Amino acid sequence: MSATPRRLAAAWKTVPRTYRGWAVGPARLADAPRIAALEREVFPEPMSLRQVLAALLQPDTCYLVVRDGRTIAAYFGFTACGPYAHVLANVTHPAYRRRGLARFVLTAAEPLARALGCRAFLGEVRVSNHAQQQVLEQIGWRTLAVLPRCFANGEDARIVFRPL
Ligand SMILES: CC(C)(COP(=O)(O)OP(=O)(O)OC[C@H]1O[C@@H](n2cnc3c(N)ncnc32)[C@H](O)[C@@H]1OP(=O)(O)O)[C@@H](O)C(=O)NCCC(=O)NCCS
Repeated sequence: MSATPRRLAAAWKTVPRTYRGWAVGPARLADAPRIAALEREVFPEPMSLRQVLAALLQPDTCYLVVRDGRTIAAYFGFTACGPYAHVLANVTHPAYRRRGLARFVLTAAEPLARALGCRAFLGEVRVSNHAQQQVLEQIGWRTLAVLPRCFANGEDARIVFRPL
């Protein structure tokens, strides 16, 4: 095993195995249809099943998943791009919201991003997405700028940043 996969495997050992009794771990290829279904349910511009599968196969991409049996309660995916861990998405299943899951997945993944050599998380949040902005504010993310018309429907994005 080369250095980065070894560091990532070591970082997974530091991630809590459970949250509120639900299982925490890396996404498997078999999770792709459920991740893609959640994407379709909550995002105006969801990743397709093919895109989710391609992401899961990338060695520089990491998905942390919280499972309640066969249900994915929450997930967070990001891709390492040099010093940045670019956020793909974090979603909490509608039936599992307001139990701290978003706060948990975003913070629990920090050692994984560091293990991939990243120095910061970087993401885009719709200006209308107040729930996500609240979560991020609580866990030390900052807004760097507002990017006009970042999304396909013309909505502006807050460019959000969390040093690692
Ligand atoms: C945004 C989202 C991820 C939040 O998930 P969550 O697991 O419910 O969030 P948490 O329970 O960790 O919330 C932590 C805190 O953030 C704030 N918060 C979360 N959702 C909120 C909402 N809808 N309205 C107001 N504040 C909210 C609260 O202060 C909450 O703490 P509290 O419940 O003790 O008051 C979830 O609503 C979601 O999946 N939305 C659709 C997908 C999305 O927008 N993803 C982010 C963009 S990639």
